[in-house]
Amino acid sequence: MKVLVTGSSGLIGSEAVEYYDNQGHTVFGVDNNMRATFFGPKGDTTWNLERLKQATQRFTHYAIDIRDRQRVFELFEQQRFDMIIHCAAQPSHDKARDIPLQDFEVNAVGTVNLLEATRQFCPEAIFIHMSTNKVYGDAPNEVPMVEQETRYDYSRGEDYNGIAEDCRIDRCLHSLFGASKTAADVMAQEYGRYFGLRTGIFRGGCLTGPSHSGVELHGFLNYLVKVALAGNTYTVFGYKGKQVRDNIHSYDVIQAFEAFRQNPRPGEVYNLGGGRENSVSILEAITKLEEITGHPIKWEYQDQNRIGDHICYISDLRKLSSHFPGWGITRSLDDILVELVESEMARHQLVTY
Ligand SMILES: NC(=O)c1ccc[n+]([C@@H]2O[C@H](COP(=O)([O-])OP(=O)(O)OC[C@H]3O[C@@H](n4cnc5c(N)ncnc54)[C@H](O)[C@@H]3O)[C@@H](O)[C@H]2O)c1
Repeated sequence: MKVLVTGSSGLIGSEAVEYYDNQGHTVFGVDNNMRATFFGPKGDTTWNLERLKQATQRFTHYAIDIRDRQRVFELFEQQRFDMIIHCAAQPSHDKARDIPLQDFEVNAVGTVNLLEATRQFCPEAIFIHMSTNKVYGDAPNEVPMVEQETRYDYSRGEDYNGIAEDCRIDRCLHSLFGASKTAADVMAQEYGRYFGLRTGIFRGGCLTGPSHSGVELHGFLNYLVKVALAGNTYTVFGYKGKQVRDNIHSYDVIQAFEAFRQNPRPGEVYNLGGGRENSVSILEAITKLEEITGHPIKWEYQDQNRIGDHICYISDLRKLSSHFPGWGITRSLDDILVELVESEMARHQLVTY
């Protein structure tokens, strides 16, 4: 296959590049390193691009901006892809408030550019759209919750498995990022339902893995590990540190894409996170990391939560699992944390924690 990965130097994109290259496919990556523009030098993804060039055999990188419709169309006209994995994005809800126009142009318009290029040049291709649980805005906060010692949790048994795809996506507070991603999510569905394109929409929980250029505004576990190992101070924003996220390793994300490729359902939407087993609150994550590293983590508390932030978000994975019974979580939360610590140490050539 000819596989196009957008956002190929990012967390999910780079995992997709490696996976499909490894499987013997020809992989094209589009990434203009805009993460460095969004987040400064700590968001720079050049290291990951260099790593990919070493680790792959059939990978070609293009520093194209997905907003540049003409260049995107030219690339599609030349290559006629079999699969498109769309991961390029402005990924932070806090950041979007400072750059609303750029955020919308990248997340919404950039996505439509890719969908339309697919329709015109390779309508048979599989199109994976990486969406987010922020399309639900703060609606998941309406689920009745109970405060426990170290986390918030759903209080009713019927909510135990988490938030399903029928949670509403409008009449709630999203952040501008959540709104631009909702526009993209709905367009990707529409190209599936209206035009019959083989689009699959995956609404991510907390996606994580060693290839993230983690920064304070994006990449929760990865950034926490960086702060812990550097001996810096981590800031917890509101909800007493009891807010819960479900974490999924980038490898398991790609396995869900591959399951969809083998059995596509045009326009279908799936929640994709770590589920209840891989859920953790910030307080719990700090404790777990202290156990792994053997060192206390410095953290401070700010009363004000992030606007529109989820209190407890666990992805209900039952739809994904029922459509693709072969798919499942293979990396536990503890596996993920140990791998993040080890890779961060290797990157900085640390010998002890
Ligand atoms: N990481 C998470 O926890 C998470 C959670 C839910 C959803 N998502 C979604 O998953 C997708 C991938 O996220 P990620 O964590 O890999 O993000 P990332 O920031 O690591 O990767 C995105 C990549 O896209 C590139 N990019 C940005 N704007 C671009 C543009 N205009 N043209 C070309 N390239 C551009 C960036 O340079 C970056 O390398 C995004 O759509 C994000 O919204 C991520």
